[in-house]
Amino acid sequence: MMAIREQLEASIGAALVAAGAPDGSKALVGAATRPEFGDYQANGVMAVAKQLKKNPRELAAAVLESLDLSDVAESVDIAGPGFINVKLKSTWLDARLNDALADERLGVPQAESAQKIVIDYSHPNLAKEMHVGHLRTTIIGDAIARVLEFCGHEVIRHNHVGDWGTQFGMLIAYMDRLEAEGEDPSSELADLEAFYQSARRLFDGDEAFANTAREYVVRLQSGDAHVRGMWQRFIDESLRHCQEVYDALGVTLRREDVRAESDYNDDLSRVIDDLRTKGLLRESDGAQCVFLEEFKGKEGEITPVIVQKSDGAYLYATTDLSAVRYRAGQLDADRVLYIVDARQMLHLRQVFAVSRAAGYAPESCSLEHHAFGTMLGDDGKPFKTRTGGTVKLMDLLREAQERAFALVGEKNPELSVEERREVARVVGIGSVKYADLSLNRTTDYIFNWDKMLSFEGNTAPYLQYSYARVKSIFRRAEIDESKLGGRIEIAEQAERALAVKIVQFGEVVDAVARECYPNALCNYLYELAELYMKFYEHCPVLKSEERVRASRLLLCKMTARIIESGVGLLGISTVERM
Ligand code: ARG
Repeated sequence: MMAIREQLEASIGAALVAAGAPDGSKALVGAATRPEFGDYQANGVMAVAKQLKKNPRELAAAVLESLDLSDVAESVDIAGPGFINVKLKSTWLDARLNDALADERLGVPQAESAQKIVIDYSHPNLAKEMHVGHLRTTIIGDAIARVLEFCGHEVIRHNHVGDWGTQFGMLIAYMDRLEAEGEDPSSELADLEAFYQSARRLFDGDEAFANTAREYVVRLQSGDAHVRGMWQRFIDESLRHCQEVYDALGVTLRREDVRAESDYNDDLSRVIDDLRTKGLLRESDGAQCVFLEEFKGKEGEITPVIVQKSDGAYLYATTDLSAVRYRAGQLDADRVLYIVDARQMLHLRQVFAVSRAAGYAPESCSLEHHAFGTMLGDDGKPFKTRTGGTVKLMDLLREAQERAFALVGEKNPELSVEERREVARVVGIGSVKYADLSLNRTTDYIFNWDKMLSFEGNTAPYLQYSYARVKSIFRRAEIDESKLGGRIEIAEQAERALAVKIVQFGEVVDAVARECYPNALCNYLYELAELYMKFYEHCPVLKSEERVRASRLLLCKMTARIIESGVGLLGISTVERM
C-alpha cells in the first residue's frame, strides 16, 4: 500500500501537470508545518508558477480543478501565496489508524521489491584504538542498516577496516622487540593506544628501529610467514577491541562483517591491468593515473586519480575501486552506501567516477556517499580530552553511563541499584547515539553531555522517559495491554493530532530508508511524544467512561509501540521503568 504522502505527491503532481506544468513537476508534499494548515501541504505550486510566469494562486486553483482527493481528504484548500493544504478525512484516518493498530509492523510497508544493499560503515583503522572519530559513522551506519532491514531489504554490512599500510611495520617490529626482551606483547596490547604511542616514540627516536620497521613493511607485503603471523595476531587483538566497543554500544556489527582493506590486496594488480586494457591509464611523473573530464579545474587542467605510485605501491583509491568491483559486480548490489566523513567527499567522487568509467558499477547500481561532519567539543574544535589527546570510545561510553547513573538516581531514588545500573546503561548509551542521530548529519556537531542527557527536548532520555510514562499507565491500572481489544475512536482534537502522527510512521521510516537521514525519524518520534503529552493532558484515560477509556488506552499502547520500535530502529533501547 502506498503511503499517504506518496499518494498525495502523485495525485497533486499529476494535477499540476494537467494544469500546464512541465512533465515531472513536483508537488513537494510534506506534513503540514502548523495545525491550521491541515495535515499535509503541497509547496510545489509556487516554483512552477514562477517558471511559467503565472499567478501562483490561479495556478493552484487550476490544480484543484483536476484534483480528486475525495477518498482521502475532507478538504483541500489554497492558502497564502499558493500552498495547497489537505485535511484528511476522518473515516480514512480511522481506517488507517486501526489497520496500523492490528499490524505487527505498525503500518510500515514492506518494500515492494527487496534490494541488496551494501553498507560501508564504522571502518576504523586497526593500528589504533577506536576513538570518537569513529563514533558517527558507526552510529549512523548502524541505524540505517536497521531501518533498511526492517523495510525488507537484504543488508550486507561491510566493515572496511584499515589493516594494511606502513604503520603496521612499526607495530609488528615493536611486538617482536617486546618478545625478544622476554615480555608478553598480548598484555601490552590490552591498551592498544599506549602500544601505538610506544611504538611511535621508538620509531621517531631510534634510527635502527625505524629501519627495522621499514624492513618489516616489505616483509609483510612479500608474505614473510613470521611477519604475517605477527600481523594477524595484532589484527585479531585490535578487532577484539572493536567488538567490545560494538557490544557496549549496541551496534549490530559482527566479526564476520569485516571486509578489510587487505582482503582486496590480491585484486589490486588486476584492477590496474584492467584499467590499462580499457585505455583509462596514463603515466604522470612515473605514477599510474586516470584522467577524467569531470575533474577538470578552472584552468582546464584535470586533477588525476592516482591508482599506482611510481614505486609500484597501490593507494587507498585502488582498494576502493576493487571494493566497488566486488560489491557492484560480484555481490550484484543494487545500492552501495558509504557512511564516510565529509572530508573524503572528493576521494569517493573520484572512486565512483572511475568505477563508472571502467564499468565496475552498472548504472543500475547506485553508489551513494552519505557524508557527515566532524564531532566538536564545546570549544568548537575537534573533540579531545582535557589534555588534548584523542578520546577513546570505551572511556566515553563509560562516562556516559556514569553520568546517567547519577541522573537516574536523582529522578527515581526508589529504583534498586541493579535496576538503576541497567537504566543508566540504556539511557547513557542511548543519549550518545541519539545526540548524533537527531542532528542533520551533514553539519559538524558539538558534543555536549548536559544537552544529550537532558530529560527535556529532543533527546534520548526524553523519549525513553515518555515511553516509561505511557507504560506506567498500564501498570498502575493493572491492565494487560496485550489483552486490549476493540477499535480506536477519535473524538477530541488532541486525539486526532496524535492519530495523524501515528499513521505517518511508515512514511517516515520509508524516507529514512531512501534518503539516509535518521534525524527525520528522531524529529518524528519527538513530535509524537509531544503530541502524546498534549493528548494526555487534555484527554483523561483511566477516568473516562468504558468505551472512551478503551479507545484511549489503545492510543497509549500504539504510542508506546511506535516509540519502542522507532528508537529500536535507531539502535536505542527502552526500559519499562525509570
Ligand atoms: N578506514 C578509513 C579511515 O579511517 C575509512 C574507510 C571508509 N570506507 C571506504 N570504503 N573508503 O579513514
